[in-house]
Amino acid sequence: MSKQMSHLDNIPSTPGKFKMEKSPFVHNRLRWHSSLAKLAFWSFIFLGLILIFFFRSPSSNSLPQDPSRRSLRTYNWGGPAWEKRVRSSARARSRNGISVLVTGAAGFVGTHVSAALKRRGDGVLGLDNFNDYYDPSLKRARQALLERSGVFIVEGDINDSALLKKLFEVVAFSHVMHLAAQAGVRYAMENPSSYVHSNIAGLVSLLEVCKSANPQPAIVWASSSSVYGLNTKVPFSEKDRTDQPASLYAATKKAGEEIAHTYNHIYGLSLTGLRFFTVYGPWGRPDMAYFFFTRDILKGKSIPIFEAANHGTVARDFTYIDDIVKVCLAALDTAEKSTGSGGKKKGPAQLRVYNLGNTSPVPVSDLVSILERLLKVNAKMEIMKLPRNGDVQFTHANISLARRELGYKPSTDLQTGLKKFVRWYLSYYSGVEKAAS
Ligand SMILES: NC(=O)c1ccc[n+]([C@@H]2O[C@H](COP(=O)([O-])OP(=O)(O)OC[C@H]3O[C@@H](n4cnc5c(N)ncnc54)[C@H](O)[C@@H]3O)[C@@H](O)[C@H]2O)c1
Ligand SMILES: *[C@@H]1O[C@H](CO)[C@@H](O)[C@H](O)[C@H]1NC(C)=O
Ligand SMILES: *[C@@H]1O[C@H](CO)[C@@H](O)[C@H](O)[C@H]1NC(C)=O
Repeated sequence: MSKQMSHLDNIPSTPGKFKMEKSPFVHNRLRWHSSLAKLAFWSFIFLGLILIFFFRSPSSNSLPQDPSRRSLRTYNWGGPAWEKRVRSSARARSRNGISVLVTGAAGFVGTHVSAALKRRGDGVLGLDNFNDYYDPSLKRARQALLERSGVFIVEGDINDSALLKKLFEVVAFSHVMHLAAQAGVRYAMENPSSYVHSNIAGLVSLLEVCKSANPQPAIVWASSSSVYGLNTKVPFSEKDRTDQPASLYAATKKAGEEIAHTYNHIYGLSLTGLRFFTVYGPWGRPDMAYFFFTRDILKGKSIPIFEAANHGTVARDFTYIDDIVKVCLAALDTAEKSTGSGGKKKGPAQLRVYNLGNTSPVPVSDLVSILERLLKVNAKMEIMKLPRNGDVQFTHANISLARRELGYKPSTDLQTGLKKFVRWYLSYYSGVEKAAS
């Protein structure tokens, strides 16, 4: 696994939309007799260079440390070579293969789903803005992994309608697997607008383009167990109330579900929402507890163990990534065609929502003891009150609907899954350290 890191330098750079042509002004035959003409010439070149500089980096004057501006970067895309890569990546190799646009492809779930689709012969094109919500070098390493299996990730934003339109002009995607989002609950204190940008505005931009595409794709997208918010009735079933969000993240996911339902109702888009419950595994997300507990335990740093009121246990329905990948593919395979065309609905379209948990909530203290055993290090723990800024005490999925309709049958327990995560973690970070030294 650690060898994978050495391939990072081989990524071909994306041909730029604003690629400059050679200057037409430099020409040997011309001879300049008057120094005034020379001065005018060089001033002209100088001004031209300044203009080109500003055109090429329109974000160069924005402050990179201002979090609300992070997502406003401009990306280079377009051109014949770029289109060729897009087309080739999205082309199915197997006879009945589908062609899927995977948003958030450099993310944790997106990488695994893209690789699995490609492996079985489907066409896959990734889209990701590589934002710095967590270490972008991990996203780049996942990108390098996908590149080697023939998946191209377009670098761009889901709220960029012009880019999305272009992608649908170049490829008639049959499916969209929409995983790009601002995840995490605590980051809302730092950068609330990122949730609006990706989970609301970006979702609407994507659905707008899908609705106008011909043919319209079927869309499978990631919602979250967080929509159950402060509910105390367990296990959570799809029909339970979702009107008590405990975080801005949950509120935008809940709004996303309503937006999706609206596009289904008005435009005939086939839509399947997947409510994930704490997905974990190799290539996972550094902002999640199992990941930073591993890092901090190895460093000898103390880890925060949250406790609910009256010493209540905090527990999560941890779901292993391979189980999630399987069911994502099943959701794509059972998705019916959208029914609209030319932006108009022709008949009722499929609308589904599924819980995808593991049906066995595990107390966070158990998570820690499993990690201690696997890492052979005792954790330093600091018991803390569960803050009121997003995390809920308990998640527990009722998955009988997904079992019935998608054949979903999670088969990895936390012990087995964490063993695979830890093995990946140790080899990945020893590779990173070697590469750095
Ligand atoms: N992992 C979990 O436990 C979990 C739980 C519930 C829901 N989900 C949902 O599943 C989806 C995938 O989650 P993940 O764990 O892989 O997260 P992730 O953060 O690893 O992946 C999301 C990817 O989307 C990209 N992205 C974000 N905003 C974008 C934008 N505006 N334009 C283009 N790309 C953008 C990010 O760069 C990132 O690579 C998300 O919608 C998330 O909310 C995940
Ligand atoms: C999303 O894109 C639209 C244009 O398509 C723009 O007007 C809007 O400001 C963007 N929203 C966010 C939150 O980035
Ligand atoms: C689980 O959900 C199904 C509906 O999909 C429901 O019939 C069943 O009663 C639920 N089970 C529990 C234990 O809540």
